Amino acid sequence: MTINIAEISALDQASVLHPFTQLKDFATGKAGDPTIVETAKGIRIKDATGREYIDGFAGLYCVNIGYGRTEVAEAISRQAHRLAYYHTYAAHTTEELATLSDRLVKMAPGKMSKIFYGMSGSDANETNAKLVWYYNNLRGKPAKKKIISRQRGYHGCSVISGSMTGMSFYHDHMDLPLSGVIHTGVPHHYWGAEKGESEIAFSARRAAELEALIVREGPDTIGAFIGEPVLGTGGITPPPEGYWAAIQAVLRKYDILLIADEVITGFGRTGAMFGSEKYGVEPDLITVAKGLTSAYFPLSGSIVSDKVYRVLEDGADKVGAFSHGYTYSGHPIGAAAANAVLDIVEKEDLPANARHVGAYFQDRLDTEFAKLPIVGEVRGVGLMGAVEFVSDPANKVRFDPHLKVGARVSKAARDRGLIARAMPHGDILGFAPPLVTTKDEIDEIVDIASAAVRQVMDELVREGAAI
Ligand SMILES: Cc1ncc(COP(=O)(O)O)c(C=O)c1O
Repeated sequence: MTINIAEISALDQASVLHPFTQLKDFATGKAGDPTIVETAKGIRIKDATGREYIDGFAGLYCVNIGYGRTEVAEAISRQAHRLAYYHTYAAHTTEELATLSDRLVKMAPGKMSKIFYGMSGSDANETNAKLVWYYNNLRGKPAKKKIISRQRGYHGCSVISGSMTGMSFYHDHMDLPLSGVIHTGVPHHYWGAEKGESEIAFSARRAAELEALIVREGPDTIGAFIGEPVLGTGGITPPPEGYWAAIQAVLRKYDILLIADEVITGFGRTGAMFGSEKYGVEPDLITVAKGLTSAYFPLSGSIVSDKVYRVLEDGADKVGAFSHGYTYSGHPIGAAAANAVLDIVEKEDLPANARHVGAYFQDRLDTEFAKLPIVGEVRGVGLMGAVEFVSDPANKVRFDPHLKVGARVSKAARDRGLIARAMPHGDILGFAPPLVTTKDEIDEIVDIASAAVRQVMDELVREGAAI
């Protein structure tokens, strides 16, 4: 099937309000034509001009099983033919949903009890915030409501989740963050540690800062702490040694719930089924989305621990029905897609692939980039990784943001047929390929990225911006 590229581009430019796009540059054509993505298979996508790209970011770290898996398409089709929709209000359900829920509650880390469904990571985090408030209202602690998030954390773009997100460009001109959300220090040793400070000591300092913040605000006003086991959009940054143990000790001391945002790390990306398992996180609430359906259908979930759920059920006689829900909560097609995706994740043991191919990937990133004179840090875990560029690695000096080094490297990679993302905070090239990626494909990804980085490095030297 051929499409009229000029016509589709014009229709799009005239009518789509694109996320994270400079609107005027796009409308006037200065940003170029939209990329019309037509087909995809494995780890590659193809645009309408026939150009192929390796998707080194699995869409938005979500197409974990790779593109074009007909098993999932068939499961979606079967469910659509059998029952395309029914709601889950007032105790209605479907076979696919009940089966999926049992599976998720059992596979999630810790003692989990129930799952509430949404359509996106953002709305699942909204639900988790409301669950924290509801839980503390039912416990007779109506003031215990504030949520602590981390600077550079990413939790979505809706009103509460956007407030939890700890990067100012997601707040500016949008009247965020809301007053009930506060931010604490980012667990990034490279930028945050004092000279000679070990990872353990740095983690202890972050935990002490958190405790000071809680005490300053008043422990009876703090309901929950939210964090990604591995910081994602804020720079793909694994936690420093001892971080989660130190943080959780503080949370327990002050009776503060822990929300693990596993939207990226859930279902294998770090090499464990959940990032919480890898880092010893014991969450009270878990946010899942993306990998749950590998983005074959929009579906998210708030997984509720026994500890939280008990309070909700015990309070039901007093407050009546749980008054929260969406038309599409527990959509049967989403449930069918998730079951088919989880079959693949388990059958092909994708967490193990993320571990083994991931180790090779981390090794190759390190060998290729760590010693370059424009690289400050190479980091990652499993099949997520990042290269951070600085103008002076010895003294940790950032490039002038106007040079747009991260964006230039990302574009140079794209020109060579690789999608690797310029992360929004700093000059960082991020990778999160599908969890089915092979070692040979990792070689292709790293080789292309290497050529792109070297091209931009040469340009910077010519411009006098790098040595
Ligand atoms: C950790 C995390 N939480 C939440 C979200 C928001 O998910 P969504 O874009 O589906 O609303 C994202 C999206 O990237 C994420 O990375």
